[in-house]
Amino acid sequence: MTKTMKIGIAGLGNVGTGLVSRLQEQEKLRFNGRIEITGISARNRSRARPVEIDQYEWFDDPVALAKSEETEVFVELIGGSDGPAKLAVEAALKLGKPVVTANKALIAEYGESLAALAEETQTPLLFEAAVAGGIPVVRAVRESFSGTEIKSIRGILNGTCNFLLTEMATTGRDYGDVLSDAQRLGYAEADPFLDVSGTDAAHKIAILSSLGFGVPMDFSKVAIDGVDTISLRDLQLAGKFEHKIKLIAEAVMTDHGVICRVEPVLLPKTSPLAQIDGPLNAVMIESVHAGNYTLTGPGAGSGPTASAVLGDLSALLSDQVKPVFGVGVEKLDQPFCATDKISAAESKYLIRVELQDKAGALASLTEKLAGSDVSVEALLQDSAGDSEYAPIAIMTHECSYAAAEEAIRRINSLEAVVDSARLIRIESS
Ligand code: HSE
Repeated sequence: MTKTMKIGIAGLGNVGTGLVSRLQEQEKLRFNGRIEITGISARNRSRARPVEIDQYEWFDDPVALAKSEETEVFVELIGGSDGPAKLAVEAALKLGKPVVTANKALIAEYGESLAALAEETQTPLLFEAAVAGGIPVVRAVRESFSGTEIKSIRGILNGTCNFLLTEMATTGRDYGDVLSDAQRLGYAEADPFLDVSGTDAAHKIAILSSLGFGVPMDFSKVAIDGVDTISLRDLQLAGKFEHKIKLIAEAVMTDHGVICRVEPVLLPKTSPLAQIDGPLNAVMIESVHAGNYTLTGPGAGSGPTASAVLGDLSALLSDQVKPVFGVGVEKLDQPFCATDKISAAESKYLIRVELQDKAGALASLTEKLAGSDVSVEALLQDSAGDSEYAPIAIMTHECSYAAAEEAIRRINSLEAVVDSARLIRIESS
């Protein structure tokens, strides 16, 4: 007999309406059963939507939808880490109703307590759509790679930022202009600050860290720097050194624990992640026994994200469900790397600064670098044009983050500095 699973969907934005529309023609999908939408909920009932929803029972309150007797599985597409999304997911899990969510903020900030609740009531909690849209990386890390130790997970996990950096670098358009396009095209979060500040990518890498390394689901351990401080000038200077700037999210196993961070990084133009342009996402998984893998594809938007939700629903139809983070929450006990060990790690850096175009300015800058024990590999002074200010870019040899930061502090104390120096890490691949 064909199994029928009744679902309630809360949240009818881009992804929610995409999901409803795909379910309305689910005979095209490869499901081991049927899914029936019994109830829906959103903030505004009368808003114009691209799908017909009158045939479903309407709930003003998503918690009531989660608790409704008709709802067997609760799909949460509201977003936001607190408020109605959390309350409704908790209500469903308490009643032993499986939950499928696309909410990375909720999982990154409350994943551990929600997983504990799910374990207590032995209820599935699935969130493939929370990380990298249509790329099946949650399932890959949680299940397919559970047979090998993972060394690192690195990638481009925010389509909006990648679109911004690509468009700015290739067209010379300014930040605000390109961000409006990302919003119009549906890549950006409702509050795009979550994208450009690096928070969205940080939510995603925090989730992958717990899945891949068994560290606690602790969002506060992710060091975050966004693209909101990257200027067109930075992108142009990176280009002159044959590099691109990308917002890289990474979780890396070290002898001192797991480093988890999101920051703009310079990559050689020929490196694999530098080839990922526009709104695309990519995740590279480096393993101990199974080699290295790169998964690439659309990481945002209605189609890819709704597909990931449908994949989770399909898994529920087939009863293929694992513990929330692959292992029980009591096993999420691996250490994070302490901040002082991260500061001591060596890397190359790009230092960008704008100086007054006058005799001795450059000499005073190199003196500060030498005083901080930072050695220069390459230096480029762009033309000051008609202005009296000269943009300078310095590529350092390997040095500790602590030394590079000290150099920045000293440089910024110089009288000749017109626009503060900033530091961008350089990676070799
Ligand atoms: N705002 C996100 C992005 C959407 O730009 O990647 C998917 O989380």
